[in-house]
Amino acid sequence: MNEVPKTVWWDDVPCLIDQLRLPAMLDIVRCEDLNSVIEAIRSMQVRGAPAIGITAAYGMALAAKRSTAQTSSKLIEKLVKAKSLLDAARPTAINLAWATQRMLDIAQANAQLEPDQLRQRLLAEAETIRDQDEAMCRAIGQHGKTLLAQTRNVLTHCNAGGLATAAYGTALAPIRAVHEDGQPIHVWVDETRPFLQGARLTAWELQQAGIDLTLITDNMAAYFMQQGHVDCIIVGSDRIAANGDVANKIGTYGLAVLAKAHNIPLYVAAPTSTIDLQTANGAAIPIEQRSTQEVTHIGQQAIAAEGIKVAHPAFDVTPAHLVTAIITEQGIAYPPFAEQLHTMVEAANAA
Ligand code: MRU
Repeated sequence: MNEVPKTVWWDDVPCLIDQLRLPAMLDIVRCEDLNSVIEAIRSMQVRGAPAIGITAAYGMALAAKRSTAQTSSKLIEKLVKAKSLLDAARPTAINLAWATQRMLDIAQANAQLEPDQLRQRLLAEAETIRDQDEAMCRAIGQHGKTLLAQTRNVLTHCNAGGLATAAYGTALAPIRAVHEDGQPIHVWVDETRPFLQGARLTAWELQQAGIDLTLITDNMAAYFMQQGHVDCIIVGSDRIAANGDVANKIGTYGLAVLAKAHNIPLYVAAPTSTIDLQTANGAAIPIEQRSTQEVTHIGQQAIAAEGIKVAHPAFDVTPAHLVTAIITEQGIAYPPFAEQLHTMVEAANAA
C-alpha cells in the first residue's frame, strides 16, 4: 500500500486513522459524539499538534451537529462548552486551542444565521482548517528543502509527519520534498520513548513513501553524531513561544544540546498555527504529564517492577538559542526569532 489515507477527515462524523494500532493495523475510528473526539485526542488515537487541532475543529462541527439547540445563540453556548472540553484534552499543543478558537470566532461572527446554516458554516470552516494545514505543510517542504541542499543524513524525533498533520507533515515535509526532487536522503529515526512514535509511526510513514531510513533507539543519537553520520536534525513543535523557545516531544532538548556539542544544525518545522505569541517564553508553556503506565509498559507488557516511582513529562522546551532556524509556511526564521515570528503570524492572519 503506497497511498496513505488522510489522517483526519469528515464523513458524516470526524474519522481518523487509529494511530494506536499502527503499524500492525490500518484501522479507522469514527467519532460519533464529542466525547469520542475528546477521547481520541486524549488517548492519542490521533496525535501531533496540527492533527489534534484539525480533529478538534471537526469536534466543534460535530458538537454543533449533535446539539438540538433551536437558536444560534444557544448553539454558540454549546460550542463554548465544547471548546473548553476539547482544549483540556491535551494542554501543550497550542494548535488545539487555536483551532477551537477559530471555530468559535466563526460561530460568533455568523450568529445571525439560522442554526442549521451555522452548522453548515462550521463544518465548512473545519474543512478549510484541514485543507490549509495540508497546504502549509507543502509550503514548509518547499522552504525547508533549501536548507537540506548539502544534506544526506537527517535525524528526526517523534512523528512530525503526515500522521501528525492533515497530510505531508512538518519536519518530514522538507525530507519528502527533497525525495520528490529525486535527491538522495536518509533519515535516522529516533524510536522516541516512551510512546514510540518514531518506531511505530515515522518509520512506517517513511517506508510507505519509499524514503531511506534507519531506526535507532534514542540513546544511539549521540553515537551517530559523534561518528559524523548526522548532518542536521529536523523536528516539529507543539508550541513555539514568542521568543522562539520550542516545546516538542520529550527528548528534543537533549538532541538540541547534542547538536550544539557536535556543531550540527537543529531545524524546527511548524505551521504558524503552532506559534503562540501570547506565551512570552518556554517557561510559560504547560507541559503535559502523561500516565506513568506509558513508561512502565510497552503495549500491555510491564517492563518495570510494580510500585516504583515513575515520571512522564510528555514534552520539553528547547531554548531558542539552541535552534538554528524555524521553518514555517511563510518562510525561514533565523535567530533572533521574536520579530520574524511576529511578522510571520501577522502575514498568516492577513492571508
Ligand atoms: O505526543 P505527540 O505524539 O502528540 O507529540 C507530537 C510531537 O511532539 C510532534 O513533534 C509535534 O506535535 C509536531 S507534529 C507536526
